[in-house]
Amino acid sequence: MDEKQVQILRLKEEKNAVIMAHYYVDDNIQEIADYVGDSYYLSEMATRVKEKTIVLCGVSFMGESAKLLNPEKRVLLPDLEADCPMAHMASVEKIEEVRATYKEDVAVVCYVNSTAELKAHSDVCVTSSNALKVVKALPNPVIYFIPDRQLGTYISRRIPEKKFIFNDGGCPIHTVITKGDVQSALACHPGAKILVHPECREEVIEMADYIGSTSGIIDHATASSAREFIVVTELGVMYELKKRNPEKSFYSTAAGQICEDMKKITLDKIISVLEQDGAGLEMAADLTDKANAPLKRMLELSR
Ligand code: 13P
Ligand code: SF4
Repeated sequence: MDEKQVQILRLKEEKNAVIMAHYYVDDNIQEIADYVGDSYYLSEMATRVKEKTIVLCGVSFMGESAKLLNPEKRVLLPDLEADCPMAHMASVEKIEEVRATYKEDVAVVCYVNSTAELKAHSDVCVTSSNALKVVKALPNPVIYFIPDRQLGTYISRRIPEKKFIFNDGGCPIHTVITKGDVQSALACHPGAKILVHPECREEVIEMADYIGSTSGIIDHATASSAREFIVVTELGVMYELKKRNPEKSFYSTAAGQICEDMKKITLDKIISVLEQDGAGLEMAADLTDKANAPLKRMLELSR
């Protein structure tokens, strides 16, 4: 463990803080975090930790979700500019338009990779690990899925009885990966199993041996008897994959697979946010009330 990591462990004890990290942040942060997981795990765990302060190492919607679910807790974000671009790729005006057309038939389903404002205008939130279960449980025959077209499409193929309306948003990291990129990786490693995040294009999803959230991908590779895998999501997951499976091999494609926003979180920024000891994330009370209801509904429907 290096000096900065030791300093963080000391500071978090002093401040009675817990460190939560997403699988896409740098290895040196995952190494010292109290909890590391996918978006669903982090939001669920935020409701269970006893510490008063949560340092959320991930992009801002993850910190916002933790705060919305626990308004009485202090949520510290090491870098306020670490923001998922897809979180902004939908509009309240379009939601209102769809609601005016479909009335009570429609449920507005909002991927957690979204702003609090979009959540506040939605009926329920989902993550990549529970979207199928949550959408199936909804009584509404029409689903307006925001902001991610890819995840929405993936879910819609598995729930043909509902009508889906899509929104033109997507993850800039996952959607640049093409079928050709995966084919090239497979040509180098024939026989490797293909693990795909559902934010990917449909042409990539169709090639997958397994489709799931970051936690799902890690759990699947760990349980699998296969020895080689092509990992089609952000490369931060490699840390946990290799830690749990030192005897297996994991490969990437040539399409980058790095989320610059997740990589904005550094040990220095965690030290500084703990030392500053500020008030943390603040949100207007009316926004908190409206945006927390769809998150709570997600937790209820996915348990
Ligand atoms: P997970 O919920 O699968 O961890 O995904 C979050 C994310 O941002 C994927 O790009
Ligand atoms: Fe957002 Fe994509 Fe980064 Fe995930 S990988 S946080 S969806 S930009």
